[in-house]
Amino acid sequence: MKKVNSKKYTCLEIFARQTGDGGRVRVTSGNADGSRTTAEKPAGRNYFAWLKIPLKENTDYEICSADCEVSLSYLSGSEDLLETGVCYLEKDQADGSFYIADQAAWYDGPTRETYHFSPWKNWINDPNGLCWFQGYYHMFYQFNPHGQRWSNMYWGHAASRDLVHWVHLPVVLAPQEEILENQEKVKGGAFSGCAVASDEEVVFYLTRHKGPLQDGEDTVEQQWMMRSRDMIHFSEETCVIGQPPEGASFDFRDPKVLWAGDRWYMVLGSAIAGKGAILLYESADGAKWEYAHPLLVEERVKRCFECPDFMELDGQYVATGAWMEHYDACGRYQMCRYYTGTFREGEFAVENDGWFDFGSNCYAMQSFAHQGRRISIGWISDFYEEHVPCENGAYGSMTIPRELHVRDGKLYMMPVQEIRALKGKTLYEGSGENISLSGIEGNAYRVRIGFSGNTFFTILLGKDGERSISLVNDEGGLRIVTKRVKSEGICFKADVDEVRELEIYMDRRVAEVYVNGGEAAGTKVFYNGSTAGCFALNAETPENVVWAEAVCMNSIWQM
Ligand code: FRU
Repeated sequence: MKKVNSKKYTCLEIFARQTGDGGRVRVTSGNADGSRTTAEKPAGRNYFAWLKIPLKENTDYEICSADCEVSLSYLSGSEDLLETGVCYLEKDQADGSFYIADQAAWYDGPTRETYHFSPWKNWINDPNGLCWFQGYYHMFYQFNPHGQRWSNMYWGHAASRDLVHWVHLPVVLAPQEEILENQEKVKGGAFSGCAVASDEEVVFYLTRHKGPLQDGEDTVEQQWMMRSRDMIHFSEETCVIGQPPEGASFDFRDPKVLWAGDRWYMVLGSAIAGKGAILLYESADGAKWEYAHPLLVEERVKRCFECPDFMELDGQYVATGAWMEHYDACGRYQMCRYYTGTFREGEFAVENDGWFDFGSNCYAMQSFAHQGRRISIGWISDFYEEHVPCENGAYGSMTIPRELHVRDGKLYMMPVQEIRALKGKTLYEGSGENISLSGIEGNAYRVRIGFSGNTFFTILLGKDGERSISLVNDEGGLRIVTKRVKSEGICFKADVDEVRELEIYMDRRVAEVYVNGGEAAGTKVFYNGSTAGCFALNAETPENVVWAEAVCMNSIWQM
C-alpha cells in the first residue's frame, strides 16, 4: 500500500460517494509504540460528500477508500497554503491507496494548457471573485470537482503572487445540501459572483441558484454575501437580495459590485420583457441594497445578460456582459459585448459598443482593479463542443489576464506584462520573409509580428492531420479559420480595418490572438493530438514583415 507523508499539511479533503453499502474513506498512521491510529468517514450516499479528516504534520499515512468513488482529493491546512497551494492525491487503481500525484507529469500532456490557468481536473467555467488582497491575486471559479461537464456548482480557488504562476487552493463553496440530495429533480449551487477587497477583508457577492432541471418560473436566484479576512476561512453567507425586481426575469444573477462617486453599485444580469438587461442596485454600506433601474437594455439579447461587469476606465465607464443563447451574423455563439460611455447620477449613456473577443471562446469575463491597472480574465469556453475528453482531464481554462484600456471609445486589451516572464528559448527572429516552424517542442509559444502596412496573409497556428486552425487576413478582413472541426464555417472575424501588429499565443489546445496593440483580441480552442506545435506565416508580400519573433513559453506550474 502506498504511503502519503502529510508534510506541513493538517487536513485531508476528499470528495467521496458510495458505490456500495458502508462506502468510506480510511486514514491510518503508525504510532511510535507500534500501534496504529485509524480515522474513518462515511462517503455520501447519493452524492459526493466533502469529507475533511484532520492529519498530523510530517506523518506517514495510508489513505484508502472502500466501496466508494472519489472525485477529488488533496491535502490542505498548512500555514503557508497561499504560497504553496494544496497537494493533490490520486488513487492507485491496483490497490486502492492514495499517493501524492506528480505535478510535472500531470501537467505535461497535449490536452492541457501549460500557461493558461486550468483546474487540476474536471469542469471549470466563469472566473469569480477576482481581486488582489494582502500580497496575492485571487481567482475563484465555477467548478464541478466531480466530472468533466457542468453540474451543480462549487467555487474553486487559486492564488498567485504575479498573475502568472498560480497555486491551487481548497474548494471554497459547495452547492446547497438540498440540491445535492435531490439531484434528479433540482440543480443549482454557488453561481458566479465577485469580490470587493479592502486592506483588512474581502467581501464576496454571489448568486445562489436553486431550481428545476429546466430553468423556468420555479427557478430561484438570490444574491448572497460572505467575508474573509485571510482567504482561507470564509464566513457564513447572508442573503442580501432575495428576489428579482418586478418585471425582471427569473434569470437574475452574477453580482458585480463597484464604488462610484458616493455609493456602492451592484450590477446583475437579467432580462426585462424578453430583452437582455443589466440591472443596477445601489447601497450605502454594501449590505442593504435597493433596486435603481436597468443600467442597460439590449434588444439583441433575448434570454439574459450573464456575468455583467461595470467599471470606470480611462475617464469613461465600461459595461460588459455575456450574451446568453445568442448567435451573431457570423454564426458565433455566446460572446461578451462591451459598451463604453458616461455614467452620471446613476445613468449610463452608451456611446460605443463592440465584441470583447472575436474568437468567441471567451465568455463571462470579469475584471478587477489593482494599482491603477484594470485586469480582466475570461473563461475559455467551448460552445462548439470541440472538447476531447480524456482521463483526468480538465475541461476549460482561463484566458491570459488582460490589461484593459479605452481609447477613442474603443476597448483595448493586451496580456498583462507579467506574462513576459514566461518567455523561453527563441525559435525565430527576423524580417522580410515568410516563416515556417514545425515540431515546436511543447506547442506552447508566442509570436510577435510587425507589418509595414496592411498585409494579406495566412498564418497556420495548429494542425492535426486534416484539422487545422489559421489566422487569415485578406479582402474579407482578419479572422480565425478552423478546418475539419465542429466550428468549421463559422467566421471568427476581428473588428479591425487593417493589421499592423500581431501578438499570438499558442498553448496546446488554446490560441489567443492580439491585434494592433490590443485593438482586438480573439480566443479559440483547437485540440491537437500532439505536443509538437507548428507555425507558418504565408504573406503575399513578405517584405512587409518589418520584424518578427517567435519564442517558446514556459509552464506556469511548479514542477
Ligand atoms: C455563465 C453562467 C453564469 C452562472 C454560472 C453558473 O457561464 O451561466 O450566469 O452564474 O455560469 O455556472
